[in-house]
Amino acid sequence: MCGIIGYAGNTDSIPILLDALKKLEYRGYDSSGVAIIHDSKLNVVKELGEIRFLENKLNKMDVKGTVGISHTRWATHGVPAVRNAHPHFDCGENVALVHNGIIENYQTLREELVGKGHKLRSETDTEVIAHLIEEAIHDEISGNSNDSKNIEISKDEVLFRAVRAVVPLLEGAYALVVVSSDCRSIIGVREKSPLVIGRGNGENFFASDVSALLKYTNEMIYLNDGDIVKLDKDEFQIISKDGEEVDRKIHAISWSPEDAQKGGYEHFMLKEIHEQTESIQNTLMNMAGDNIHRDPDRRELLQRLSTISNIEIIACGTSYNAGMIGKYFIEKQTGIPTVVTHASEYRYSAPLKHTPLFIASSQSGETADTLAAMREAKNRGSLTLAVTNVVGSTITREADFTLFTRSGPEIGVAATKTFTAQIMVLFMMAIQLARVQRRMGKDISYYDGLESQLITVPRLIKRVLSNIDSIQEVAEFLATAHTTFYIGRNINYPTAEEGALKIKEISYIHAEAYPAGELKHGPLALLSPETPVIALISDDHVREKVYSNVGEVCARSAPVIIIAPEGDEMAFKYTDRVLTYPPCPPEISPLPISVILQLLAYYTAKVRGCPIDKPRNLAKSVTVE
Ligand code: M6R
Repeated sequence: MCGIIGYAGNTDSIPILLDALKKLEYRGYDSSGVAIIHDSKLNVVKELGEIRFLENKLNKMDVKGTVGISHTRWATHGVPAVRNAHPHFDCGENVALVHNGIIENYQTLREELVGKGHKLRSETDTEVIAHLIEEAIHDEISGNSNDSKNIEISKDEVLFRAVRAVVPLLEGAYALVVVSSDCRSIIGVREKSPLVIGRGNGENFFASDVSALLKYTNEMIYLNDGDIVKLDKDEFQIISKDGEEVDRKIHAISWSPEDAQKGGYEHFMLKEIHEQTESIQNTLMNMAGDNIHRDPDRRELLQRLSTISNIEIIACGTSYNAGMIGKYFIEKQTGIPTVVTHASEYRYSAPLKHTPLFIASSQSGETADTLAAMREAKNRGSLTLAVTNVVGSTITREADFTLFTRSGPEIGVAATKTFTAQIMVLFMMAIQLARVQRRMGKDISYYDGLESQLITVPRLIKRVLSNIDSIQEVAEFLATAHTTFYIGRNINYPTAEEGALKIKEISYIHAEAYPAGELKHGPLALLSPETPVIALISDDHVREKVYSNVGEVCARSAPVIIIAPEGDEMAFKYTDRVLTYPPCPPEISPLPISVILQLLAYYTAKVRGCPIDKPRNLAKSVTVE
């Protein structure tokens, strides 16, 4: 939800600002812009649409400078337009800033500023901040500020103080990066929206996400909410919420720059689908018992889990669907009642008696609704456990415990490898929970057996990935549809939900998922020869039931696509369009089936010529409510 870069160094900042910004394009791509300082002059250049359009514009201009900021926007306030693109500046065009998040009280602030004679040029919530900083600079210089009375201070310090004076006026979520024409420093602020510092050699950076900076440095400093930073090419100073100067830990990031590139694939999404064998393997290793026993935090987590009597999982989008699949597995293996709630609903729900274990699942670790729900759960007294892919993300710093997926950076807006890795974390956690609680009366060998089944998942996925032709063929057919239905039962009902979400997101085909038994309670009325139905089959106690539901679909002349285990001949009685996966225990069938559904969505979107990695109106990380 908007990407931010800041650079202070010795070389021209523009190529760096554009290159790093492109890595953040998944966060939004409505418009983009840069502000560059050169010879005490501020140059602001903005353009509508993707970053390549800004790049083209800059290529035709003679703008240079070793200090600069850049932004890619996902519109919240004000339509996508150049006037609403960031950076925004003040009346005097001396201060420029970029923002990720939402300023909730901007209307009030705007009215006050207009009352004082400020002329605002955009409809954004962001622009008010530039004008407030202008006011605060004026106060600092004219000695109206208590701090600056009788003290000779540098222009950089004036800007720093001005930003610090403005921050308490702002309500909402924001990461800000601010420059001024006569300063060599960049000021960064983090409040409930992500912002990291990258420490380089003779250069320092700000970014919304570490993946943007991997080409330049692997030393990252994650900021806390309330931190305000003054950064130049040689050093940075961090002031915490309490007004104290603080040191924050420097993290050495192990992701390589190649991890955040397409590596020969046409799209990030396709690359990330193919990376699932490795992502699951790494996640499994990380979750394995030996590693847990070596890690004191996780030993403590296990101990705390031994008395848990009910669980609530909250998440959004794909992470929610992973949570739903987790629920079926957890309940089956542990007998512990588990509910899954949309994060955006949880935060405004009635404060019921608290849930002992609250799992917040988010690949980015920055989703505003998920973070807010987790904070609410903490207030209600739950033990909080985060499941995420991003080390140092906000969720990891606020949860009592964290379990990581080890998927590497996921750039495509449609989540794929982090989805299957989240399922693995929940499955492994369920097995460990079952072991410590022993509620189901099973012996240790039963759980060892379950773990051995999970270890086969990367192999199953490899097989699915080696049989792409048949999926492409079905995609050609699906690409002509306007509406589709995905049906499954039990643990594969949420798999159907995820399949429907994927096709909606990237191919723009309307899709609805239903528990297969629900079709006859209404949706059957919509079926016709123009509405393909994708049915998910696994070798379980509901297999025959799903086939009966498929029969009901065929009786309405709707075309059927069946995803079933290899050797399940029944599927061919209903349709020739059968996609198969290697036979496996039903509990783990959502994993190979999901990979087929991801590929089906991918190739369907490709046939339809959709912008797969950057679907319209979406952004990878939703850091606003
Ligand atoms: O980073 P998170 O897992 O918290 O993100 C949650 C959703 O925004 C995300 O899964 C979204 O639905 C994806 N675009 C799905 O592909």
